[in-house]
Amino acid sequence: MSSVLPEPPAPPPPCPLCKGFGFLQAPDGRTLVPCSCRAEERSTARRVSARIPERYRNCSLENFNHLTESQRSAKALAWRFIESWPAVDAGLLIVGPVGAGKTHLAVAILNELVESKGVRGLFCDFTDLLDRLQSTFSRGGADESQDEIVEPYREAPLLVLDELGSRRPTDWVRDVLYGLLNTRYNRKRLTIVTTNFGDQPEKPGGETLELRVGVPVRSRLAEMCQLVPLSGPDYRREVRPGRVFA
Ligand SMILES: Nc1ncnc2c1ncn2[C@@H]1O[C@H](COP(=O)(O)OP(=O)(O)OP(=O)(O)O)[C@@H](O)[C@H]1O
Ligand SMILES: [Mg+2]
Ligand SMILES: [Zn+2]
Repeated sequence: MSSVLPEPPAPPPPCPLCKGFGFLQAPDGRTLVPCSCRAEERSTARRVSARIPERYRNCSLENFNHLTESQRSAKALAWRFIESWPAVDAGLLIVGPVGAGKTHLAVAILNELVESKGVRGLFCDFTDLLDRLQSTFSRGGADESQDEIVEPYREAPLLVLDELGSRRPTDWVRDVLYGLLNTRYNRKRLTIVTTNFGDQPEKPGGETLELRVGVPVRSRLAEMCQLVPLSGPDYRREVRPGRVFA
């Protein structure tokens, strides 16, 4: 048997522009600007920091099908939102039944803005946020304070706040939500909200958004967001049911 080890693969040639340094001298000759070879790296970093859940990572407007009229107009509005950024003065309140594509649409906008306009966006599943906050109680607030957990969501220039109203609205839940949205309202940060609850109950005796989030939050949302009704079949069950066998 030969004892000659295979040659290690040659390292990729350095970027001809920056010679692998990653930065170039700006035209003023005094400052450094990132080289174009770093663009992909930066875009990946931005996507990771947006904390988009695995299931929705590839959601785009291109792969958002419009089966209903409300999906078609919501998609058109989403394109206008993206094209107009940063000259946008209200976020979106996407309201509709289970599986109509609310989270897909919200993440598609976030993905596109993070990718093409370099926006510092953040995804927040509201139920997850509440769980994280609640876990600080049992740990005696040792690792991360509630303030440290919430601050990135208060500050992000664009926040997707998913599943608003899905958790039973205790006083504590309403206080957390009020604290977060009131700060974003005061700082004029844009928020895309998704929720199953509208202003009219889905069925007689059902709950409204105002009941789930409280009057002060519903009032702020009216000023912070444009209403986007989204109706359609439950995509999970009716359009693309899971298959184990071909
Ligand atoms: N119009 C659509 N085109 C393509 N895929 C869709 C569409 N609507 C939904 N989907 C897909 O169906 C699944 C469910 O959609 P999504 O999670 O966005 O629904 P939702 O309205 O947020 O539901 P829920 O109220 O339960 O949160 C996702 O995998 C999503 O990518
Ligand atoms: Mg959803
Ligand atoms: Zn380079």
